[in-house]
Amino acid sequence: MILNVDIYNRTNWLKIAFLIGGVIVIAFSLYYTDRIVSRIEEREKQQIQLYAEALKDNLMMEMDQSTGSLVSQIIQSNANNSVPAIHKSHGGALISRNIEIPPGLNAKEEQAFLQKELSDMISGDHGTIVFDNGLGQNDYIYYGDSKLLNQLRYYPLVQLLVVVIFFLAAYLWLSSSRKAEQNRVWVGLAKETAHQLGTPLSSLTAWVEYFKTDPRFDEEIVREIEKDVQRLDTITTRFSNIGSVPVLKDENIFETVEVFMNYLQKRISSKVHISIQNNLSDGHQTVRINKYLFEWVIENICKNAVDAMGGIGSLTITMKESRNKQIALDFSDTGKGISKKNLSKVFNAGFSTKKRGWGLGLTLAKRIVENYHNGKLYVKSSEIGKGTIFRILLPYEPNMTNAGNHLSEDTASQVSNVQS
Ligand SMILES: Nc1ncnc2c1ncn2[C@@H]1O[C@H](COP(=O)(O)OP(=O)(O)OP(=O)(O)O)[C@@H](O)[C@H]1O
Ligand SMILES: [Mg+2]
Repeated sequence: MILNVDIYNRTNWLKIAFLIGGVIVIAFSLYYTDRIVSRIEEREKQQIQLYAEALKDNLMMEMDQSTGSLVSQIIQSNANNSVPAIHKSHGGALISRNIEIPPGLNAKEEQAFLQKELSDMISGDHGTIVFDNGLGQNDYIYYGDSKLLNQLRYYPLVQLLVVVIFFLAAYLWLSSSRKAEQNRVWVGLAKETAHQLGTPLSSLTAWVEYFKTDPRFDEEIVREIEKDVQRLDTITTRFSNIGSVPVLKDENIFETVEVFMNYLQKRISSKVHISIQNNLSDGHQTVRINKYLFEWVIENICKNAVDAMGGIGSLTITMKESRNKQIALDFSDTGKGISKKNLSKVFNAGFSTKKRGWGLGLTLAKRIVENYHNGKLYVKSSEIGKGTIFRILLPYEPNMTNAGNHLSEDTASQVSNVQS
């Protein structure tokens, strides 16, 4: 189903396009703000120069009334009403403009405070304006950035942060509501399927019972029909378990896998060699599972393995203890393997590389293991032309001493048994 693969490729391209679009918008916004900052910086520099000129004139000239008031006006307001500046006279006294001096300081403390501000300004990247005060002595003006300039410098970063938080929150909300929606569809569909199958199934069961009592019907045929009806019953039970909260029971994992693999072996190619390797100690074989659903998981994984091997090869199921009180079940096949490109897609609903595949087997298996059994299902490794290992992690019940274990001592001792 190449069509499905294309859908995933398209989605990836769309994501990349959105990402590139976002980066371009952000870069443009940063560039534009940087240009505004440069312009304001230049204007503030001119303001300070004008302020210095006015100070110089004020100090040097004997002025008439009107010129004097104009110069003081420039000094007091127009030339600089926002840029923090300190005028250091030849005598060393500091006079500040647009600097908030903490209240309650005496003259000495105020000078010390301004001295500190001055050091900050000197260490900044603005130059110092030096002018002659008319007595052959130099006065100095130091200045920093206005509040507006500082705010504008950090504005794009704040804006960026807000946008990122907003998109992250929106993404999380959308993906969680999408997941909830998917859950509802899965559960609803499964419930409806179980319900639809229920009626004809009970009728078929009744018919089989009737055939059994009537000698006109061939016993062998009736037995085969009964097997099919039982299979149908198992399928219906699986769907009804998916559609409701499934009941979990303590089961012996080795026994569950062994029984099911025996069943499966008869239904697949005889050229597929199945073996089970059990490395679990006696006390760690009990897991809480829903047998019907768990068998469905094994079936999906094994059928995929058989498909990948083209009906010839070997499938080994290894059971061992893993970290964090978990049991690891490895399904390893000698099939064609999964390409790197497809590794991240195999659990996507609808992804299939088979002519007649629905691409639902692994999605379903993952849901069953992770949502209903608190476990994990993933591809442990895969190599093209060599094979694949799928791993299931299940929490074991350490306090249960093989509650569901009906294996005889003999069977248990054959822990590394091989069956075919
Ligand atoms: N053991 C494996 N070896 C190689 N490829 C695999 C293996 N298991 C799964 N795949 C790949 O993952 C894809 C998805 O598997 P999945 O079981 O979800 O769907 P499907 O088998 O194609 O269809 P169906 O819904 O009938 O199971 C497969 O089409 C195949 O390409
Ligand atoms: Mg499959």
